[in-house]
Amino acid sequence: MKKSLLATGIVLLFLSGTAAAKEVNEGMCASYTKMYCSRCHSIKRICKALEKKDEEQWRQTVTTMAEYGGLDQDTQNTVHACLSGMKPGDPIVCKK
Ligand code: HEC
Repeated sequence: MKKSLLATGIVLLFLSGTAAAKEVNEGMCASYTKMYCSRCHSIKRICKALEKKDEEQWRQTVTTMAEYGGLDQDTQNTVHACLSGMKPGDPIVCKK
């Protein structure tokens, strides 16, 4: 009995973890990066980083930037979902 309760808890934890992954689309990503990530530096900096960062590294970068800029958790999740879904050279952050 105790064991199965524990297992349920673990499954719930897992489900709530995946539920936190945001659904994002191009329009959102364009406006979020423009609004929150090009205030202090060029958006080209993000374009360059696309070539070398994976999902985990983006999590760290977004956390650091959020500390600099005071971005709330929801904004961080959105931007992170956007960035980790982008390919190198993605026109959302690489145009011009
Ligand atoms: C409050 C100012 C500020 C805001 C807002 C900001 N940044 Fe930065 N960012 C910096 C500074 C300062 C540096 C250079 C120092 C450093 O690397 O930590 C930097 C460096 C970077 C770098 C290059 C360094 C690395 O870790 O690869 C990337 C990529 C980056 N920012 C992405 C972003 C993204 C994505 C956002 C939006 C979530 C963002 N920044 C918002 C200030 C800011």
